[in-house]
Amino acid sequence: MYTRPRRNRKSSAIRAMVEETKIGSEHLIYPIFLKDGTNVKEEISSLPNNFRWSIDRLLPEIEACMKLGVMTYDLFPAVEEHLKDKTATYSYAEDNFYLHAIRKLKETFPEIVLMSDVAMDPYSSDGHDGLVENGIILNDETLPILSKMSLAQAQAGIDIIGPSDMMDGRVGSIRETLDINGFTDVSIMSYSVKYASAFYGPFRDALNSAPKHGDKKTYQMNPANKREALLEAELDFMEGADMLMVKPALCYLDVIHLLKENFNIPITAYNVSGECAMVYAAAANGWLNYDLAISEMLLSMRRAGADAILTYFAKDFATLLKK
Ligand code: PBG
Repeated sequence: MYTRPRRNRKSSAIRAMVEETKIGSEHLIYPIFLKDGTNVKEEISSLPNNFRWSIDRLLPEIEACMKLGVMTYDLFPAVEEHLKDKTATYSYAEDNFYLHAIRKLKETFPEIVLMSDVAMDPYSSDGHDGLVENGIILNDETLPILSKMSLAQAQAGIDIIGPSDMMDGRVGSIRETLDINGFTDVSIMSYSVKYASAFYGPFRDALNSAPKHGDKKTYQMNPANKREALLEAELDFMEGADMLMVKPALCYLDVIHLLKENFNIPITAYNVSGECAMVYAAAANGWLNYDLAISEMLLSMRRAGADAILTYFAKDFATLLKK
């Protein structure tokens, strides 16, 4: 035998020297659920160790995460049912607690990066990402609503807009609205390749945002399709997206890799709620080692080509890295 791959694995130092993929806390984006009020920290039953926070309780939590090196946060609003309507008007209302929270966070921690989610579902009485008429999700009529929502978030101080709605043409529409209003520095990380997935369940529990009727298959992608991912990514790229996202991550590592090979802008992966819930559940039952499992999962996404990863494991993984 001339070649023995095991020689490159014979000590921890050698293994580290030839390690191909690195992952640090700078690659992590932490999704956070926000709720109106004060002194709120409610655990999400299907996503243990994740909470709906009121802004006062969230501030010290963000400070703790920053100390661990987590600098980017994606914020999601849990909106009271009575504030939801057909056209998601609360999403850009003056007194919207989510917009106030963005202001407060940027004021308190100017150095953090804040990302928003843009879609109608948390604010919609139909629980869909777009405007619903006679059971149909309207595309073009949704675009001005998404643009208005994005503009309100930009005015509140958001750094990155994250359109997660999968309407056609929304990146271009949002980019144009931001630019004509002087927000040329606000970035867009597009949920370009978002599949109609079974793994969003705990997230919809967190926001009580599940569709009231039907499913999301007329706008989110068919999990069987990969070439179509290139089309979605190309459109968003042409319309001005600064970064492209693949969502979910774990079942779609091949798609992450495909985008990385084909686009010269950063590629991000969303390690979604259901993917994390599986690990929480298995670890709680003693069926998996939590630390090893999350490390391997996040590493696989980086190896596939993700520049950054949105993950509910962000704080725990950053804690592990410090050890
Ligand atoms: C809203 C949105 C969803 C997620 C992020 N933004 C749910 C959905 O599309 O139904 C899911 C994230 C997760 O499961 O962690 N458009």
